[in-house]
Amino acid sequence: MKSSPLNIDRYHPGLRLIHWLMAILIIAVIATGLMIEDKVTIAGEQAVFWHQSFGLTVFLLVWIRLVLRWSLYKPLPIRMLKRWEQAISKLVHILFYILIIMLPISGYIMIVAFGGKPHWFGFNLPIPLLPESFQTAATAHVFMGFFMIILLGIHILAVVKHRLIAKVNLLQRM
Ligand code: HEM
Ligand code: HEM
Repeated sequence: MKSSPLNIDRYHPGLRLIHWLMAILIIAVIATGLMIEDKVTIAGEQAVFWHQSFGLTVFLLVWIRLVLRWSLYKPLPIRMLKRWEQAISKLVHILFYILIIMLPISGYIMIVAFGGKPHWFGFNLPIPLLPESFQTAATAHVFMGFFMIILLGIHILAVVKHRLIAKVNLLQRM
C-alpha cells in the first residue's frame, strides 16, 4: 500500500466497501459452517450449500482486495496506538488474509475428499484427483475456522476497547 501524500485518516472508499461486504459474508460463512454439524438433515445440506457458495465468493473477493490494498493510498497510522498495539493489529490483519485464502482451499479439498460435488451457487466446479492423505484438509479447515472466530473476537474487542477507553473511533477509518 502506498503512503498518502495528503492528510488522509480513512481507508479508501473502495477498501471500506470491500471490508464490510467481506465482513458480512464471512460472518454468514462462519454461521453456516457451525450449522453443518448435522449434514444428514435438510438444514445441514442447506448449510453446506450456502457455506461453500459464500466461502468461495470470499475467495474471489480477497484477490481484488489485496490488489486494491497494494495499489491505493494508506491512511496515516493511528498516533495514539502503542507500538505493541500496532504490531498486534498488523499481525491480526496478516493472519486474516492467510486464513481467508487457506480456508476456502481446504474447504474445497474437504468437499471433494468426502465424495461431495463442489459448486458455487449451484454451478458445478471441477473435481480434482486427490490422494487419501487429503482427508487431513478437514482437520485443518475446522482448526482454521475456529482460529478465524478467535481472531474476529480480538479484532472486534480492539475496536470496542479503543472506542471506550482511548476514545479513538476506529470505525470512522473503516
Ligand atoms: C468478519 C471478518 C472481518 C475481517 C476478515 C476483517 C479484516 C480486517 C482487516 C484485514 C483490516 C485491515 C485493513 C485491510 O488490510 O484491509 C481491518 C480493518 C478494520 N476492521 Fe475489520 N474485519 C472483519 C470484521 C470487522 C468487524 C465486524 C468490525 C467492527 C467492529 C471491523 C472493524 C474494522 C476497523 C475499524 C478497521 C480499521 C482499523 C484501522 O484503522 O487500522 N472489522 N479489518
Ligand atoms: C472464508 C471461508 C471459510 C470459513 C471462515 C469457514 C469456516 C468454517 C467453520 C467455522 C466451520 C465449522 C467447523 C465445525 O464446527 O466443525 C466450517 C465447516 C465446514 N466448511 Fe468451511 N469455511 C470457509 C470456506 C469453506 C469452503 C469454500 C468450503 C467448501 C468448498 C467449506 C466447507 C466446509 C465443510 C464441508 C465443513 C463441515 C466440516 C465438518 O463438520 O465435518 N468451507 N467451515
